[in-house]
Amino acid sequence: MGVKTLLLLLLVSVLAALGLAADSHHGHSMPGAPVNISQNDRGLQQVVLNAAYSFNNQSNDAYLFKPSAIRRAQKQIVKGVRYIIDLEISRTVCHKRRNSKNLSKCDFQPKGPLHQTFQCHFEFWMIPWKNENTTQILHCKA
Ligand SMILES: *[C@@H]1O[C@H](CO)[C@@H](O)[C@H](O)[C@H]1NC(C)=O
Ligand SMILES: *[C@@H]1O[C@H](CO)[C@@H](O)[C@H](O)[C@H]1NC(C)=O
Ligand SMILES: *[C@@H]1O[C@H](CO)[C@@H](O)[C@H](O)[C@H]1NC(C)=O
Ligand SMILES: *[C@@H]1O[C@H](CO)[C@@H](O)[C@H](O)[C@H]1NC(C)=O
Repeated sequence: MGVKTLLLLLLVSVLAALGLAADSHHGHSMPGAPVNISQNDRGLQQVVLNAAYSFNNQSNDAYLFKPSAIRRAQKQIVKGVRYIIDLEISRTVCHKRRNSKNLSKCDFQPKGPLHQTFQCHFEFWMIPWKNENTTQILHCKA
């Protein structure tokens, strides 16, 4: 490789690095592959709650459901942050009509006929620079 080629390569990579930095500054970072995240990921608990809120909003159940387990959680940087989550949500003892705002005050149903868990796949996209959140997928099955 000649010196000219080397310099050109160097220039290109410096420009690419600058471009990336400028881009991510505006939230338009290069799309990355989804990566596994830990259950303790900052933000994950909040996102998982959004799945329960959507589920409760769509269901005709007399009781509220809330997350009971996270089976898989991935995060992808793509014009914001996309979460890809497999979780379980279970029926609580809180009646929907009583309109409990705080799910953490709702215990799960004890073992018995009202005890029920759904397996859900949830894809949630947060676009902070547009102040926008979108639920892309929420599929649940018993
Ligand atoms: C609940 O669902 C209705 C109808 O699909 C929708 O208009 C409303 O914005 C939803 N509310 C929440 C809190 O998601
Ligand atoms: C990501 O997590 C899933 C489910 O826990 C696991 O099966 C998979 O091997 C993990 N992938 C990597 C790259 O760690
Ligand atoms: C919900 O209740 C829990 C436990 O009582 C409390 O720690 C938390 O601050 C409450 N959250 C809200 C939003 O009220
Ligand atoms: C988007 O969701 C996150 C996590 O639940 C929340 O902190 C944020 O306020 C939401 N933003 C909008 C615009 O709703």
